[in-house]
Amino acid sequence: MSQKKEMLYEGKAKQVFATDKPDEVVVRYKDDATAFNAQKRGQFDRKGELNNAISTLIFGYLAEKGIPTHFIAKLDDREQLVKKVDIIPLEMVVRNYVAGSMAQRLGVEEGLKSPVTIFDLCFKRDDLGDPLINDHHAVFLGAATYDELNEMYALTDKINQLLIDLFDKANVILVDFKIELGKTSDGKIVLADEISPDTCRLWDKDTMKKLDKDRFRRDLGEITEAYVEIYDRLQTALAK
Ligand code: TMP
Ligand code: ASP
Repeated sequence: MSQKKEMLYEGKAKQVFATDKPDEVVVRYKDDATAFNAQKRGQFDRKGELNNAISTLIFGYLAEKGIPTHFIAKLDDREQLVKKVDIIPLEMVVRNYVAGSMAQRLGVEEGLKSPVTIFDLCFKRDDLGDPLINDHHAVFLGAATYDELNEMYALTDKINQLLIDLFDKANVILVDFKIELGKTSDGKIVLADEISPDTCRLWDKDTMKKLDKDRFRRDLGEITEAYVEIYDRLQTALAK
């Protein structure tokens, strides 16, 4: 088993540590929560532990369905062992329903189901507030080639279909989500980062209750309870 060493990177919600193996790193989930490009900050009980557990379930499910990921193993409550990747500095956002920034930007009511899958691309630059960009900007910036973007959209679309199915079994609507992709040392594009209620909008199918980070962003309360609910429902759905 890999030995955890010095911290390589600290983000808003996670820390990354080197190990004695050059191709493996340890990711540690924190209880810190931020929103709106870290203008809103807080912490809530058990967040790190719950996101680690939920992301582990989801990455395991996706790997089983043939999606290449960075995930190797859950180490303990807060930590995972993952393959070291170069994160592609693009956030792949997928929207099945209109919500959040798209509802605001386009003046569309939140909750409208889209007849097509909507893909947004954001440039990962905290100091610029992760701006919305398009494919040409991404190529100009050297973040990816057109061929890589095609591969990235195809992979993201496949992940969306698999996640819609999984959350449907959990009686949850997958409204939208964000993923990050990375390149392994041999140049393969794989799913990286996390998939959790921090990175998805998840609404209960019957009541439309929000079971995700919007409870923190919008001060709706019962945040930990919502994350526990998602964990419990995913466990049940995966056991079916
Ligand atoms: P948005 O409506 O704020 O653009 O967010 C779309 C989806 O992406 C939503 O599920 C939340 C997720 N997201 C992140 O995971 N990280 C981010 O930094 C942002 C802006 C959104
Ligand atoms: N994670 C992002 C931030 O801190 C945005 C968000 O999730 O709303 O600022």
